[in-house]
Amino acid sequence: MKGGKYEKSKLLQRRAHQIIPGGANTYAKGDDQYPVDAPGFIDHGSGCHVWDVDGNEFIEYGMGLRAVTLGHAFRPVVDAVAESLAGGNNFTRPAALEIDLAEELLSLVPSAEMVKFAKDGSTVTTAAVKLARAATGREMVGVCSDNPFLSYNDWFISRGPMNRGTVSGSEKLTVSFGYNDFASVESMFDRHKEDLACVILEPAKYEEPEDNFLHRLQDICRSNGVLFILDEMITGFRWSLGGGQETYGLDPDLSAFGKGMANGFAQSALVGKAEYMRLGGLNHTDERVFLLSTTHGAEVPALAATLATIRVYKSEPVIDYLYSSGERLRTGVLAHIRELNLEANFEVIGRPCNLVYVTRDGDGNMSQPFRTLFMQELIKRGILAPSFVTSYSHSDEDVDNTIRAVGEALVVYKQAIESGIDGYLVGRPVQPVFRKFS
Ligand SMILES: Cc1ncc(COP(=O)(O)O)c(C=O)c1O
Repeated sequence: MKGGKYEKSKLLQRRAHQIIPGGANTYAKGDDQYPVDAPGFIDHGSGCHVWDVDGNEFIEYGMGLRAVTLGHAFRPVVDAVAESLAGGNNFTRPAALEIDLAEELLSLVPSAEMVKFAKDGSTVTTAAVKLARAATGREMVGVCSDNPFLSYNDWFISRGPMNRGTVSGSEKLTVSFGYNDFASVESMFDRHKEDLACVILEPAKYEEPEDNFLHRLQDICRSNGVLFILDEMITGFRWSLGGGQETYGLDPDLSAFGKGMANGFAQSALVGKAEYMRLGGLNHTDERVFLLSTTHGAEVPALAATLATIRVYKSEPVIDYLYSSGERLRTGVLAHIRELNLEANFEVIGRPCNLVYVTRDGDGNMSQPFRTLFMQELIKRGILAPSFVTSYSHSDEDVDNTIRAVGEALVVYKQAIESGIDGYLVGRPVQPVFRKFS
């Protein structure tokens, strides 16, 4: 059964909002991010297909906020996890598997000489910032203003609209620059170079680096004793196995990996140069840094999942497929956009392995109501697509079915542009996560 009735979902949604703030444990999965008639809770998944609690089936895009790169319940990963479970999970001393994965990662990520594991991205980007502060004795952090989310911790969140509860003054320690805007980098360095501990950014988002931007940024960091940190949460295991640093030939001091490395299991890693990482260790006489130490950071099943994921990437053309499936989807969607003359209202942007869509109203302004309408029409047709990010499990047939559904959804979209959205959109529009009030 494809998208239709959502009775059980709606029941669970009501309960969820009573007992879980936001009704979901991840804001980006929350109800305010989806149309009112949408699957509220997923029961299970297989490949790129998911089934909600009402039994509706969908082809999914984005796949766990880009964490599931191979596919849901991907057999070799599931088998490796199941096998590891029989041997127990958390021990009083480290598991030998920690060394296996550490060595594997160091061989894959060009700049990595040492590694520490954790469970999520925010923890490792925050650890990178802390280590940079410890190593330089400076406190300021330069972040790329075009990166929407690098951490839920104060150093990042205090600058935005949803900063209630952060330590006042922390926002003054974070300054920003624009992607591909080297003048803004120079101006940041002119004002703050004595106080900057690090610069942190995603190697790329939806724009590619221009005019050698990333290398110039790396150089200006080096010549001012500022650590150059890459957030490879999305680019890692997607742009290439070793992330954006491999794709663009960069040599960051520290980098943070997560998301795709374990096909949806909770595993993240801070990797970097030994000269900095060792400060969190025992083999030095400097003052120690409490770098990363979590009870579950090196949990055995997630280590096993990561090793199994890497094995698949190394033995099968996963990265190539992420690109080619995205390219197939983009080509098909663009044909519909052209056919319907919707170039000014609907765009597909990003690398083929990381596509998103931009929705605009009749005046060409970015529009959340039109985003909601597009998702609503796709959901009706069995496609759950907050983005167009594919996985290794999106077959040609899945992609072609999606292209067909997009074509139909865009016909409705065009009608709504021509005669007003009110007659087409059911319920309230979606809203951005980062906003001051609900
Ligand atoms: C670029 C980037 N960095 C960091 C994070 C935080 O990762 P996590 O949600 O695992 O804490 C995210 C999550 O969306 C991200 O996209």
